[in-house]
Amino acid sequence: MTTALENVDLRVGQGELFGVLGPNGAGKTTLIKILVTLLLPTSGEALVDGLDVVRDYKHLRSRISMVSGGEQAGYGILKVREQLWMFSQFYGMNSKAARRRIDELLERLGLAEAANKQITGLSSGMRQKMNLIRGLMTDPRVLFLDEPTVALDVGAARDVRSEVQRWMREDPTRTVILTTHYMQEADELCDRVAIVNRGRIVAEGAPRALKESVDEDVIVDLQLDPGTPLLDLLRAIEGVGAASVREEDGVDRFSLLLADDAILPRVMTTVESAGRRVSGLVRRQPTLEDAFVKLVGRSMTEEEA
Ligand SMILES: Nc1ncnc2c1ncn2[C@@H]1O[C@H](COP(=O)(O)OP(=O)(O)OP(=O)(O)O)[C@@H](O)[C@H]1O
Ligand SMILES: [Mg+2]
Repeated sequence: MTTALENVDLRVGQGELFGVLGPNGAGKTTLIKILVTLLLPTSGEALVDGLDVVRDYKHLRSRISMVSGGEQAGYGILKVREQLWMFSQFYGMNSKAARRRIDELLERLGLAEAANKQITGLSSGMRQKMNLIRGLMTDPRVLFLDEPTVALDVGAARDVRSEVQRWMREDPTRTVILTTHYMQEADELCDRVAIVNRGRIVAEGAPRALKESVDEDVIVDLQLDPGTPLLDLLRAIEGVGAASVREEDGVDRFSLLLADDAILPRVMTTVESAGRRVSGLVRRQPTLEDAFVKLVGRSMTEEEA
C-alpha cells in the first residue's frame, strides 16, 4: 500500500493564490482530489469554503472547479464553444448567461477564432485554455488547478498564468490552489507555497521567505565537462550544505550550497583531483529549487528518479 499523503496540515486564506509544489509522485494530485471531493481520505478532515469535503460534498461541488493540465476531457465531435456550453448545462448555468460568459472567456484567452473548431483539432495549448475556461465560467469560490501549464510552450503557459492572475484580481475573495512542479512558476505566481515531498509538507511560506532560508549560503553553479562521477565527493566536503547536478547539452551543471566563500577552494581542489575540467562558474541568488535541495538533500529530479 502506498501512503500518498501523511500529516498534511494546511490553511489557505481566502483570496490567496496558493501553490503546492513538488516532484512527480509527491502527492499533489491526491491532495487536490481530496479537496475537490473526487477522492475520500482514509483519515483526517478537510474543509473547503467552510464545507467538509466528505459530509458536505454536494454543497461544496457547486462552489468549486477543478482543471487538470493533462486532462483530455471532451467529446471529439463537438466544437469548442459547444463543448463549453454543454459543460455549462451540466453545471446548471443559465443558458444565455453561459453563452455570454463563454464568449467573453474565449475572447480573453485568445480562443475566439477557435470557437468553431472541433476539439480534436486543438493544439495542447488550446485544449488546456479551453479546459481553463470550463473551470472559470461558473465563477467558483475556489478554483483548483492541477499542473495547469504542464507541457505548454512558453507563450501558452504565460497566457494561462496571466488569466489566472487576472481572474483573481477581478474579485479579491476568490481563491486558487494550484499544483506545479515548475519552481519558477510557483515563485512567480503564488502568494504562498507548500513544498510537498513523498506525501509530506516539507516547507510552507511565501516564495521570498522560502528563498531566504538559503540566504545565508553561498550558491554556486559549476559547469563541468563530462567525466568521472563527482556528486558524492562534493557532498562529502565539509561546508557543502547541499549539492545537485543535472546534465544539459553534454555538460554537467552542479549547484552547490556552500556555508561560506572559504569552501570554494576545497571544492575546486576536489574537482581537479577528480580530473574534471571547469567550463563555467557563477555565484547566484537563491531559487525555490535551492530551498528544496537544502530541505530534502536532493534535487526534485533526483526525487523523481
Ligand atoms: N490510483 C492510485 N492507485 C495507487 N497509487 C496511486 C494512485 N494514484 C496515485 N498513487 C500513488 O500515490 C502517490 C502520490 O501520487 P500523486 O498522483 O498524488 O502525485 P503527484 O504529486 O500528483 O505526481 P505528478 O507530479 O506525477 O502528477 C504516488 O506514489 C503514486 O504512485
Ligand atoms: Mg499529479
